[in-house]
Amino acid sequence: MGQTYQPQVVAHRGASADSAEHTLGAYQKALASGADGLECDVRLTADGHLVLLHDRDLRRTAASRGTVSTLDLRDLDQLDFAAWKDPWRELDDEAPEEDPELRRVVTLRKLLETVADHDRRVEVAIETKHPTRYSGLVERRLAEMLAEFGWTGADSPARMMSFSINAVARMKRLTPQLPLVNLVDTKRGWHQVRERVPAQRILGPGVDFLREHRKIARKMAASGHRLHVWTVNTEDDLALCESLGVSAVITDKPAFILDLLGR
Ligand code: G3P
Ligand code: CA
Repeated sequence: MGQTYQPQVVAHRGASADSAEHTLGAYQKALASGADGLECDVRLTADGHLVLLHDRDLRRTAASRGTVSTLDLRDLDQLDFAAWKDPWRELDDEAPEEDPELRRVVTLRKLLETVADHDRRVEVAIETKHPTRYSGLVERRLAEMLAEFGWTGADSPARMMSFSINAVARMKRLTPQLPLVNLVDTKRGWHQVRERVPAQRILGPGVDFLREHRKIARKMAASGHRLHVWTVNTEDDLALCESLGVSAVITDKPAFILDLLGR
């Protein structure tokens, strides 16, 4: 990999190939590897907290019944969000003791505090998940929280992303200066974005979509939009991003990608 190509390297749900996604353990590992940014998905709990979870329910990551949007933060706080990733750990007498805090649900506030306290600039790519029963309240809460941190300006270390064009447009109304990313993983999504989204907006296509739709990939690269591509986990993925001039790569394996880039 040519060392002249130096995209921003963003850890997708933390260093999620090695550690359970969206846990503090995964984010600490990503920071230690030197990642430039951290990606997260956010959902609203029933009592109005933004928490970092991808799925609408808890089956996959906490082996539990229930839907995130119907539970309070204190309910989620009882659950272990790391056991699914390493199910044999409990049986391993020699496994080192781990701080239970590293296995629990993480609030967006905690992630932003972690980034604010870090000793170098780290960016946070925050994806709001739709559809959800709370609809636009998610962006309202996100805008309020970013305002608390003083992070709504053009130079904010945070940016908002969504597959929902309406959600990104809503965020634009709430925080006109904040960097925004329209995620795209279908032809239909690309056509909508091409018609409705201004050139200064960042586009976030999936790497598989770019590989399957080379013509669209070339059009996106020539469109004037900056591209933030996910999930870039292999040397081939990174080479494709380099060929398209992608400015940020979002990866489950930040240490591996940084190594390929000679960093
Ligand atoms: O970074 C964007 C990417 O995370 C979108 O897909 O399903 O991993 O949230 P997903
Ligand atoms: Ca995401």
